Amino acid sequence: MRIDIITVQPGLLEGPLNHSMIQRAKDKGFAEINVLNLREYALNRYGQIDDYQFGGGAGMVLMCEPISKAIEDLKSERTYDEVIYTTPDGEIWNQNAANTLSLKQNIIILCGHYKGIDERIRQLYVTREISIGDYVLTGGELAAAIISDSIIRLLPGVLGNEESALTDSFQDGLLAPPVYTRPAEFMELKVPDVLLSGNFKLIEEWRMAQAEQRTRERRPDLYNKHNNDNQPH
Ligand code: ADE
Repeated sequence: MRIDIITVQPGLLEGPLNHSMIQRAKDKGFAEINVLNLREYALNRYGQIDDYQFGGGAGMVLMCEPISKAIEDLKSERTYDEVIYTTPDGEIWNQNAANTLSLKQNIIILCGHYKGIDERIRQLYVTREISIGDYVLTGGELAAAIISDSIIRLLPGVLGNEESALTDSFQDGLLAPPVYTRPAEFMELKVPDVLLSGNFKLIEEWRMAQAEQRTRERRPDLYNKHNNDNQPH
């Protein structure tokens, strides 16, 4: 899979995309991530990429031409399955959306900045608008990093068996159960006996019950959805 990220702040993506699991996925050839600096597509030699908004109001707006040029440049090389725009007024990102996008070949993520981008770019190019939550970030770069991370870890082969994505929270609509490691007792708190029993059937049942209890208590919205989805039809 290839992800092209268009941004005015490439430096903000350096940390998240060049370490740990994403770096490993790139090294192993499972993912290619290319960061484009929008300034390279600036309108003039002053590096202009934004302007005041028509009608007045605080905040600069990213202009059509540089973004259009950057996207057209990418599209001249290959076809893209999605052009995603990161924005607080997009659909809320979740595991389902990550699962769906992990099946795509090539995607562009366009990071918003300042007051946003000219609406016409959204009309002309953007196929999907994504928010990572109901709060406002300075720009869309951190959102792009989060989206990329949650997609790339799902690509076959990226995670080893021991860290399989199948047992993640949300993957079956439930939060993950608690986990423990050595020592078996810490500050008088004991690891539940069942986990030391060696009885894998009982351990599985315990984990499922814990996952359900956790989800019911912490995320009743998810719990109700999980129950409805698992009703016999
Ligand atoms: N840009 C600013 N805030 C954002 C958010 N919550 N999600 C995605 N992109 C954003």
